[in-house]
Amino acid sequence: MKKIISANKKTDPFILTIFGASGDLAQIKLFPALYELAAQKRLPSEFYVCGFSRTKMSQKEFRATFKKAVKDHSKIKVDGKILDALAKHVHYYAGQYKDIDAFRDYHNYIHEMTGKKPKDLPHLAYLSVPPSVFRDVAKNIAETRESKNEDIRIILEKPFGDDEYSAEELFHFVSKYFKEDQFYLLDHYLGKHSVRSILNLRHDNKILSQMMRGTEVANIQITAVEDYGVKERAGYFDQVGIVKDMVQSHLLQILAMVTMQIPVDMDGENLQRAKHGILSAIECPCDVKNLVLGQYKSYRSESEVDKKSKTPTFAAMRLFINREDWYDVPIYIRTGKKLHEKHTYVVVELKKFPFQKKEDEPNRVIIELQPKERINLTLINRQEDVQRTQDITTTQSIACDVDGCMPEHALLLLDVLRKEKMHFLSFPEIIAAWEVVDQVSELMQREKVKVGKYADGSEGPKDQNKLTALDGFRWYDVHGNE
Ligand code: BG6
Repeated sequence: MKKIISANKKTDPFILTIFGASGDLAQIKLFPALYELAAQKRLPSEFYVCGFSRTKMSQKEFRATFKKAVKDHSKIKVDGKILDALAKHVHYYAGQYKDIDAFRDYHNYIHEMTGKKPKDLPHLAYLSVPPSVFRDVAKNIAETRESKNEDIRIILEKPFGDDEYSAEELFHFVSKYFKEDQFYLLDHYLGKHSVRSILNLRHDNKILSQMMRGTEVANIQITAVEDYGVKERAGYFDQVGIVKDMVQSHLLQILAMVTMQIPVDMDGENLQRAKHGILSAIECPCDVKNLVLGQYKSYRSESEVDKKSKTPTFAAMRLFINREDWYDVPIYIRTGKKLHEKHTYVVVELKKFPFQKKEDEPNRVIIELQPKERINLTLINRQEDVQRTQDITTTQSIACDVDGCMPEHALLLLDVLRKEKMHFLSFPEIIAAWEVVDQVSELMQREKVKVGKYADGSEGPKDQNKLTALDGFRWYDVHGNE
């Protein structure tokens, strides 16, 4: 049965090394996450957080950077006393990722810092470094430790390679040094409470499990739109585009959660196996009629973007699942930058009764993932005497709003500390998702799929409506501020 993990339980002593500690991910997400864990009293009395980066910095300077990042980026009010106490556990080591001697020296440094041999403490290694140096860091950790026999947990965050081939190569490479169960492959969407709720709602409610079956569903729509552009990540984004950046992991993971068979026992292995089953059954569009791309008008004037760039910042596609239960149920996904709002939501449109009229609205289950976290059911109620049909939407919050709720990176770190794999990806899932994305990329190149311009702040290219129209449906737009 589902494992209940007791809330507020402290974890065992550990050491966390953040490789790439001076980068954005560490500053914006990881340091505030550590603060959340400290504020929620989830951390043990003995733990060490050590930043490892190329930048030369003293311990004092790094602690000051750590505190500033927590104050600047925490979503909760920061208590100076808790922050000061946390900062005492924070250390820094400046070293080059390629330099094996630096890693040897680092392990002596851990010994001095903890008074213990490194192997005597669980070691979390968060690789918050550019993909180009993943390998150096993994190899150097492994070659300076008994990597497969010690309790070393490697946390890797997307992007996992650039296509199926490079992801496979990466996994083969790191598997030489570590066992598969030492990896925590992280997609931060799986740390969001609302995304976790998709599984829990389906697992625990017969009303939903009965409705959200291929035989009952007319179509599924997954939307993840953002009201900001590529910001300071323009150089990276221009190389990869929206399909690799957003669809490959975040959107396909949501799709899998909405359509997979829910295991009774939701442990990591069962969930990963079920998600892999769906991801490997996705039929790629393979035809231009199933793909719409766009680019926001001001994109080419962003710094670091090629002035002739054809990189899409918007993509919508029509997919199918090659499984008996989902056969012929179209799944539309769309995502884009610099649109009218920040909103991520799933619409599951149910089939109508055969006797219902074309103009009757269907029932819908809508799960809003962010910024509002809500579930909405749309129903209709006919009132003959006054000759009207009442459209009813019942809405309930699914937000985690009690003491102890934490943001995504804090929850995911806690999962790693507990060796809990429910909310992490497996290698096969990542490869299956790349297979879909590689076919889309190939289609884009082979057919030179048009990348239409759309106005900044708009709802994206109008052509997206052609996708749903292929099956006689329309996008059901939900607005986050309603
Ligand atoms: C990242 C993408 O993985 O997710 C970004 O690389 C995107 O381009 C971000 O903006 C969205 O995350 P969230 O949690 O703000 O929806």
